[in-house]
Amino acid sequence: MAPPRGRLLAAALCLLFLAGADAGTVGVNWGRVANDLPSPAAVVQLLKQHGIAQVKLYDTEPAVLRALAGSGIKVVVALPNEQLAAAARRPSYALAWVRRNVAAYYPATQIQGIAVGNEVFATAANVTAQLVPAMTNVHAALARLNMDKAVKVSSPVALSALANSYPPSAGVFREELAQSVMKPMLDFLARTGSDLMVNCYPFFAYADNAGVISLDYALFRPNAGELDSGSGLKYYSLLDAQLDAVFAAVGKLGSYNGVHVVVSETGWPSKGDAKEVGAGAANAAAYNGNLVRRVLSRNAGTPRRPDADVDVYLFALFNENQKPGPTSERNYGVFYPNQQKVYDVEFVLGGGSVGGKGNGGLGWQDNGGGSAVPAGGGGVVRAAATPGEAWCVANAMAGEARLHAALDYACGPGGADCKGIQPGAACFEPNTMVAHASYAFNDYYQRKGRSIGTCDFAGAAYVVNQAPKMGKCELPSTV
Ligand SMILES: *[C@@H]1O[C@H](CO)[C@@H](O)[C@H](O)[C@H]1NC(C)=O
Repeated sequence: MAPPRGRLLAAALCLLFLAGADAGTVGVNWGRVANDLPSPAAVVQLLKQHGIAQVKLYDTEPAVLRALAGSGIKVVVALPNEQLAAAARRPSYALAWVRRNVAAYYPATQIQGIAVGNEVFATAANVTAQLVPAMTNVHAALARLNMDKAVKVSSPVALSALANSYPPSAGVFREELAQSVMKPMLDFLARTGSDLMVNCYPFFAYADNAGVISLDYALFRPNAGELDSGSGLKYYSLLDAQLDAVFAAVGKLGSYNGVHVVVSETGWPSKGDAKEVGAGAANAAAYNGNLVRRVLSRNAGTPRRPDADVDVYLFALFNENQKPGPTSERNYGVFYPNQQKVYDVEFVLGGGSVGGKGNGGLGWQDNGGGSAVPAGGGGVVRAAATPGEAWCVANAMAGEARLHAALDYACGPGGADCKGIQPGAACFEPNTMVAHASYAFNDYYQRKGRSIGTCDFAGAAYVVNQAPKMGKCELPSTV
């Protein structure tokens, strides 16, 4: 569900990621398979408090849609798999469904999309043939109500729709789905200006292949990278590799460059059974935290589609105690039902509205904050927020090579004073690329009077307004 692009407000502190590719957006899946969740009204307050501006639901529960009314939070609702066959068979059913479950709440509740079915091939295979006809009828109903421009129709596809995803360039849809469902779906999405929704879980790939796949690669931490010999592209994250496998599979069905991809679910469990290798709170915090920073920075594109701004919906808002299956299934939440975080993770750059920055949960790019600092990068930790101050730090996700090039520029032609990171100097330790690049980028940024565009380095840097500390090295906020 593509949100409006280019929403950066003109206030100076908002100019975080300048000129060029827009950042993606981060939303959260609000699943409710639990008997201990807060009331919908309390959940909406929680969303606003944390600056969560987009949610995806698995149904059209009236109490939930009413609670979201007037919140400014954008909503994707769902037509459950059980109703697919009826929606496909009868346009009148689809129209009545849209009237009752979407039009009745819109626009007070900002419904921007309808997920028609969920992982249909994986969990409701017997209605696979009805999927695109159901999507078509739901779209026709929206058109009839003059809502088709505002509300887009898609259907989350599980990554298991791919017959092959490794290496990414070999990505291809399963033969029984490719021509019969995926191609007509892509034609539909292209025709209606909608997005392809894909559920991607690097966790599953990692847990099944822990001896082969590096944890750093799965968690967006600095790593040696994986070369795709088919394309010559190098990958530094498993999610990128999964997404490019999807792009490759799509490309094999035709030219659908206009179809944007949304990661409709992704996440990492904070707990698992003994055989669920990699499950745990620290890894979940790393995965989700690094993912959010990555998506909200302008580096969200993949090696195959560097300009794509990938939007994601984290799975999930809460731990859901009534989910069947292994322990992990009940532990994907970023919040406990008591509304405490399961681990520390931010949903907006700069820590959201915490500290009264005035982010009312309306637009990710609209908050006046800087950015949280990469937890996985070079021992950088957050200190207290200082209003009005700003620093420039390296984006760990940019990878060593890009950071190295940007560091060379900053300390060379850029004119930054890099004596402080020479061996023996105060900021030589920690001796990591992220720490050294942060030092150099910040010196350059401060020296340039923090003017627009001076904390960018082709996307390898970003502004924070909490004092970064790297070991004993403190970055000055003015030179
Ligand atoms: C598909 O399978 C489900 C579960 O077995 C069943 O309830 C449903 O009636 C089936 N739908 C169709 C259209 O065959």
